[in-house]
Amino acid sequence: MTVEWILTPERISGAIGLIAAYAGLCWGIAAKVRKQRKAEDEENSAPQGNVQAPAVLVAYASQTGQAEALARATAHMLVSGGLQVRLLPVQKLTEDLLQQHMQSLWVLSTTGEGDAPDHALGFVQGLLASKLQLEWHQSVVLALGDSEYQEFCAFGTEVHEWLKASAENSDSSSDANGDSSSDANGDSSSGSSSELICVDNMNAQSLQAWQARVGALRQQLLGESAAQDSDADWLQTPASVPFVLAQRRLLNPGSQGGALYQLDWVPQAGALPHWESGDLVSLCVPADPERARDYSIASIVADGSLQMLVRQSVRDDGSPGLASDWLCRGIALGDVQAITVRAHSGFRLGDNAQRPLILIGNGSGLAGLLSHIKARVQQGRSDQWLMFGERSPLHDAICAEQLAQWVQGGHLARLDQAWSRNSDSGKESHYVQDLLHIHANELLRWVEQGAAIYVCGSLNGMGQGVHQTLQAILGEAKVDALLAQGRYRRDVY
Ligand SMILES: Cc1cc2nc3c(=O)[nH]c(=O)nc-3n(C[C@H](O)[C@H](O)[C@H](O)COP(=O)(O)OP(=O)(O)OC[C@H]3O[C@@H](n4cnc5c(N)ncnc54)[C@H](O)[C@@H]3O)c2cc1C
Ligand SMILES: Cc1cc2nc3c(=O)[nH]c(=O)nc-3n(C[C@H](O)[C@H](O)[C@H](O)COP(=O)(O)O)c2cc1C
Repeated sequence: MTVEWILTPERISGAIGLIAAYAGLCWGIAAKVRKQRKAEDEENSAPQGNVQAPAVLVAYASQTGQAEALARATAHMLVSGGLQVRLLPVQKLTEDLLQQHMQSLWVLSTTGEGDAPDHALGFVQGLLASKLQLEWHQSVVLALGDSEYQEFCAFGTEVHEWLKASAENSDSSSDANGDSSSDANGDSSSGSSSELICVDNMNAQSLQAWQARVGALRQQLLGESAAQDSDADWLQTPASVPFVLAQRRLLNPGSQGGALYQLDWVPQAGALPHWESGDLVSLCVPADPERARDYSIASIVADGSLQMLVRQSVRDDGSPGLASDWLCRGIALGDVQAITVRAHSGFRLGDNAQRPLILIGNGSGLAGLLSHIKARVQQGRSDQWLMFGERSPLHDAICAEQLAQWVQGGHLARLDQAWSRNSDSGKESHYVQDLLHIHANELLRWVEQGAAIYVCGSLNGMGQGVHQTLQAILGEAKVDALLAQGRYRRDVY
């Protein structure tokens, strides 16, 4: 009877259906896992790579994208020569990963005042704070910095020292003579070595030295068969585009502070290049053709122009800042300026696109925040809160009309402004960090609801003050976690 029941045609087709559904479910799960693994692999490795060849680890830490671009170019140079490469931001490194690789290349910039880039915080507090034993490991560090800063290349140098100590740790356990790490030439008596190349303000000669070092490593690992002639354009920096200055508007007439201008640029020919909110431009001016200056982009492509907010800066000796003076007073309407649009992945919306946003800034820092608000308004989102500081409501209420329109139209959930020279209007003076204290409960509520925090503007005073205030309100551990997660992003200068 049981057999008869099983063999009923309806039952058979029912069973086949069930099996098919189960197989489909399994296939779906397997496909999802495969897709997830593929995504992880793509994130963790350079695009291609010969799996038979020795693997090189390329690690980077970058605040405004230059170190990341160099690390990608380095990885590409190795992969195109036939090596297997693993490309990772430093916070994804583990002791195991380092020990699995005999060779590592590091591209590390320094930010703040001798600090590591924000995304590197987990690495700094974790791996870098621990003692590793890296036996037979060879590392080369490319440290990006600017000798105008007191702590020149501090973070790259610190990582190099740590790698050196890690090599010595392992050598003292395996080699009684110990002395195995080296600066500059990489000679080593027992296998481990660590080298450091410091780059001042993207100096071309130092970058060539790095390129030659990467080429030598490739040669060492692949022997004579290594490609010799494919590196001429190894570092493909984004091309500059000729832009015409279409409009320049003084935003703060009568201000006691430096003049702040909005500049609108259109391409001399063709369409606007692509950029995302949070991105930067770099440009060189006639008075200083060697040294590029960065500016946050204040518009989105749909605005039809590339906009910047530029503060006319005055140096300590009273002389005008070269680039800002050129942009605010030198270049005439209708003149052409070469501008390079640079992806600024550390300040883009990225994973935060679906989160509420708390946008905090002062002065020209409104530029980087404006582009995010515009991008969100375009997406029909209104869950953004702007806290902005300037000098006086009488002369420095920049972009006031636009901000009021967004509030009235329900595109900006909250707008709070702090005026640091408010005595003219007989009211109390505040800095933007005071706003955080005043609205601490609301801030906590937004963060609990998943908000991301974006800070743009001056590092001294505002950036540091906001950071300390966030630590006081949210706790240091929470602020560190938000930084590590990319839920707290900064474009401070
Ligand atoms: C990520 C980022 C985003 C920025 N966004 C904005 C923005 O949106 N709006 C804005 O107004 N500013 C912005 N800035 C600041 C901007 O890049 C310039 O620093 C600012 O305009 C002053 O430049 P300047 O040429 O007028 O002043 P300068 O004093 O001429 O130059 C400033 C920089 O160049 C160096 N320098 C200049 N001349 C020499 C020299 N002869 N020898 C050696 N070093 C020299 C200085 O040490 C300093 O680092 C941003 C900066 C960064 C890093
Ligand atoms: C706000 C700011 C702070 C910086 N602080 C330092 C510093 O303390 N020491 C240093 O050597 N370079 C410093 N630099 C220079 C950067 O390291 C250099 O411009 C580097 O090329 C940036 O690389 P990135 O785009 O990968 O962040 C600083 C740059 C900026 C914009």
